[in-house]
Amino acid sequence: MTASPAPHPGLADSAFLKAARGEPVPHTPVWYMRQAGRSLPEYLRVREGVGMLESCMDPALTVEITLQPVRRYGVDAAIFFSDIVLPLKAVGVDLDIVPGVGPVVAHPVRTLADVEAIPDLTPDHVDFTTASVRALVAELGATPLIGFAGAPFTVASYLVEGGPSKEHAKTKAMMFGAPDVWDALMRKIGGIAAAFLEVQVAAGASAVQLFDSWAGALTPQDYAEHVLPHSAAVLERAGRLGVPRTHFGVGTGALLPLMAEAGADVVGVDWRTPLADGIRAVGDRSVQGNLDPTLVFAPTEVMLARAAEVVEAGKAARGHVFNLGHGVIPSTDPAQLERLTEFVQQLPR
Ligand code: CP3
Repeated sequence: MTASPAPHPGLADSAFLKAARGEPVPHTPVWYMRQAGRSLPEYLRVREGVGMLESCMDPALTVEITLQPVRRYGVDAAIFFSDIVLPLKAVGVDLDIVPGVGPVVAHPVRTLADVEAIPDLTPDHVDFTTASVRALVAELGATPLIGFAGAPFTVASYLVEGGPSKEHAKTKAMMFGAPDVWDALMRKIGGIAAAFLEVQVAAGASAVQLFDSWAGALTPQDYAEHVLPHSAAVLERAGRLGVPRTHFGVGTGALLPLMAEAGADVVGVDWRTPLADGIRAVGDRSVQGNLDPTLVFAPTEVMLARAAEVVEAGKAARGHVFNLGHGVIPSTDPAQLERLTEFVQQLPR
């Protein structure tokens, strides 16, 4: 295998990396969760007839899809095109991503034996990821690539429920009723997540994000007791890689201090929490967010006025990375995100 390329010298000036580290920035950096995906006609074109997981394992497609929003919007960071369940697929868990549904697991995890049957992730399971990241970093030049993984709770929910869930009832039943199985499962998934982040950074990713999208389903007490130590272990391993770490969840207003405590440099704030409150909650960390993703359906001037408010509020933080409060909605008009990106990047700091 060839060595990973040396970091591009321009990365030192990246507004995204500077904001993540709390250093002064030339402009507020912008990227969007799910910036690559169904809102882009060029994405729909290259994905025609190719399954979601198949496209994540094909370096040429992964590179093309990751670059699409960078070309179109001129965002300050790329996010690696993959999925939170991809590493599980790579180690051999029988699962698929069903269009319009999400991840579906053939044999949901119920027992300690089920957990122990899941192999740990080694770099050779994800050779295609290493190849994709290396090629991407070479193409991206001075634009940083964000690597990511799913956090133990959110990934556990898919494994235990067998698919998407609103209540996470089976997941919580295991958490409350079978703490030994729960602990083993969280440790297993955490190890896979950390190893997947290590692979991406070793191949040249210059930041990581841990997605705990469904953590907002938990009370602070249960999060602190049953989830935080496992996410903290992943973030601790990621911290040894020397890149900024972002920790994000949805509906996490009450959890933000704990999510910060878990070891993030940047805490993602969803749109339900006013950014000023989020900033107070996370202390001396940077924040990411948090325009309501439905504002792209408002008249442009309404969307931009609200974006200006978010940027203004962000000035109170150690550092602020502009983003939506959750992923880009598939019916979003890309022209709105073009206008939004340009507008935020030219606002005075
Ligand atoms: O642009 C990016 O943000 C990078 C790519 C990315 C995807 N999934 C691609 C994807 C990222 C960061 C994810 C993470 C992910 N996957 C999360 C955490 C982020 C979040 O949105 O909260 C979660 C919960 C998943 C699980 C998952 N995978 C869901 C809920 C879905 C959507 C199902 C659907 O069809 O509505 C997926 C599939 C998926 N992952 C798509 C994309 C672009 C859509 C599939 C397609 O285009 O065919």
